[in-house]
Amino acid sequence: MLLQAATLSGLLLFSAASDLRDEFTFPAGPGVTAFFPGDPGYANASRAFNLRFTPDPVAVVYPETVEELADIVKIGNAHRLRVSARSGGHSYIANGLGGGNHSEALVIDMGKLTKIAVDPSTKTAVIETGNRLGDIALALNEYNFAMPHGTCPYVGLGGHAAYGGYGFTSRMWGLTLDNVLSINLVLANGTITKASKDVNSELFWAMRGAGPSMAIATSIEFSVYEAPASVIVFQYNWQLDVENAATALNTFQNFVVQPNLPPEFGAEIVLTRGAVEGNVSFGLTGAWHGDPNQLNGTVAPFLAAMPPLNAVTFTGGNWIESVEFLAGSTLNTSTAPDYTDTFYAKSLMTPQASPMNQAARTAFMNGLAHEGFVSNMSWFFQVELYGGANSKINSVATDDTAFVHRSSMFTIQFYASSFNNEPPYPDEGFKFLDDLVDGITSNSPADWDYGAYTNYMEDKLEDYQTRYYGSHYDRLLALKKEIDPTGVFNFPVGIDD
Ligand SMILES: Cc1cc2nc3c(=O)[nH]c(=O)nc-3n(C[C@H](O)[C@H](O)[C@H](O)COP(=O)(O)OP(=O)(O)OC[C@H]3O[C@@H](n4cnc5c(N)ncnc54)[C@H](O)[C@@H]3O)c2cc1C
Ligand SMILES: *[C@@H]1O[C@H](CO)[C@@H](O)[C@H](O)[C@H]1NC(C)=O
Ligand SMILES: *[C@@H]1O[C@H](CO)[C@@H](O)[C@H](O)[C@H]1NC(C)=O
Ligand SMILES: *[C@@H]1O[C@H](CO)[C@@H](O)[C@H](O)[C@H]1NC(C)=O
Ligand SMILES: *[C@@H]1O[C@H](CO)[C@@H](O)[C@H](O)[C@H]1NC(C)=O
Ligand SMILES: *[C@@H]1O[C@H](CO)[C@@H](O)[C@H](O)[C@H]1NC(C)=O
Ligand SMILES: *[C@@H]1O[C@H](CO)[C@@H](O)[C@H](O)[C@H]1NC(C)=O
Ligand SMILES: *[C@@H]1O[C@H](CO)[C@@H](O)[C@H](O)[C@H]1NC(C)=O
Repeated sequence: MLLQAATLSGLLLFSAASDLRDEFTFPAGPGVTAFFPGDPGYANASRAFNLRFTPDPVAVVYPETVEELADIVKIGNAHRLRVSARSGGHSYIANGLGGGNHSEALVIDMGKLTKIAVDPSTKTAVIETGNRLGDIALALNEYNFAMPHGTCPYVGLGGHAAYGGYGFTSRMWGLTLDNVLSINLVLANGTITKASKDVNSELFWAMRGAGPSMAIATSIEFSVYEAPASVIVFQYNWQLDVENAATALNTFQNFVVQPNLPPEFGAEIVLTRGAVEGNVSFGLTGAWHGDPNQLNGTVAPFLAAMPPLNAVTFTGGNWIESVEFLAGSTLNTSTAPDYTDTFYAKSLMTPQASPMNQAARTAFMNGLAHEGFVSNMSWFFQVELYGGANSKINSVATDDTAFVHRSSMFTIQFYASSFNNEPPYPDEGFKFLDDLVDGITSNSPADWDYGAYTNYMEDKLEDYQTRYYGSHYDRLLALKKEIDPTGVFNFPVGIDD
């Protein structure tokens, strides 16, 4: 289906390319900045974050107003092109550029829509979707406000807020999308409208979990929070053999369901290459947003059940210092260029009701300690704590938003780059990750109800409708057929029959 759409737009393009250029550049048209194949600047404008993909858009266009953006969508329709919004461009499979190789979409870069309006009296902020997470954190911090989001400053709000948005504050504040109050958007037919619980409520539901398949969000109204007075970023590390690492993962599974685990505790297990074959480096990294004197007592039951530590680091500071420390770079994204990578990533959301069993954990750690150790890939794995006791993420009812995963314990991210972060991407990388995930699922109960995280999107996921969208898929598809019947906003593994 998708391939056909791509081929069709490709064929049309031979006759339409010059028309399209005229529409964006003639005085009669919107007169927006646009790059076409062959233009100086096109290679940079169309480069994916993940260099595994070369989508070759028919044009990358930079509207400065919502009205221009709506006109561009209409022009795309007139040329029967697929249209794709790009916010931060950090889709793992280049979906902001249309996705895949040679998919030839009309790309609308949101980069000139960067207004942020904070209202201290209502504790809300209206944020245009051209903003990146680092710049948003800085702007909110001016008012001593904060919101939950991921750690990479260059990730864009558009994709992040549409599919989830997890950070170490998510156990206390929820995902980014859980804090959305209303959305200004442009529909597939170019209509400018908005969605909230009172207006276009079905669309509002769908935008929070499957937004990119439904409409282009131009700005989003959020609830924001008082920034925590102090934050401690903690990093504990162990070198463990397979048996000890598999046990340690279970120790963490037991620890996080203790009824008194505070929501101010945000954490993940970070797994990297061990010092010797047969071992893995096992880290507990996270951020503590409560009373600084309460951290050690909170972590104590976990440490008591673990082997002796190899290393521990605490980094204390105020809110924005913690955001900057976790980013590992400047938060102001206009002061330094972004980087690129060549990688494959997968995710697995584990059900809290059925934690990973001994066989699954052993298969996982065995793969890291052996295949991972000898592999020529550069890799890391993160076992992110979504659930556990008292998690805000899991306090939201399953049907409140299209984001369906409200009973997970972890989102495990599997990420492997080519050895020098450049193409080509070796087959070894696909096999390494596919085998690891298969090792976990094949050793789990046949009815193990696992999911996958749309913000760690992969184009090779079979059964993606169930894993990404679960029981919400049919409801999303019904809305999709109504508001985007010709598939203007179609891309790999989206809502699309
Ligand atoms: C280095 C790195 C670190 C990351 N860390 C985290 C993390 O800590 N936590 C976490 O949850 N995720 C994390 N992610 C994943 C990230 O949240 C997703 O890749 C996210 O979708 C990227 O959003 P974007 O706007 O940058 O991407 P884009 O490629 O611009 O967009 C992604 C998708 O959203 C669509 N889209 C973009 N803008 C809009 C819009 N305005 N309206 C409608 N649809 C739109 C695009 O068409 C595309 O389908 C990380 C990713 C990277 C690369
Ligand atoms: C290249 O593109 C990126 C993002 O698409 C942009 O931020 C950057 O300014 C561009 N660089 C040049 C030299 O045009
Ligand atoms: C895209 O094209 C590149 C270069 O030809 C190739 O290495 C890569 O495998 C292709 N990716 C996909 C997803 O088809
Ligand atoms: C980032 O830096 C630029 C250039 O110095 C500045 O204009 C902008 O205001 C800064 N943005 C934020 C969010 O601080
Ligand atoms: C490997 O793991 C074992 C057992 O967990 C540990 O005793 C040993 O020190 C580790 N080896 C290295 C080199 O870290
Ligand atoms: C907390 O524990 C760490 C070691 O895990 C130790 O370095 C630190 O001094 C302790 N802090 C307090 C306040 O006891
Ligand atoms: C890793 O792969 C690259 C590219 O194929 C190769 O040049 C390099 O020698 C390899 N390294 C190892 C340790 O195998
Ligand atoms: C645009 O699409 C919306 C949603 O399907 C519909 O309500 C509206 O009438 C359409 N507008 C036009 C001008 O076709």
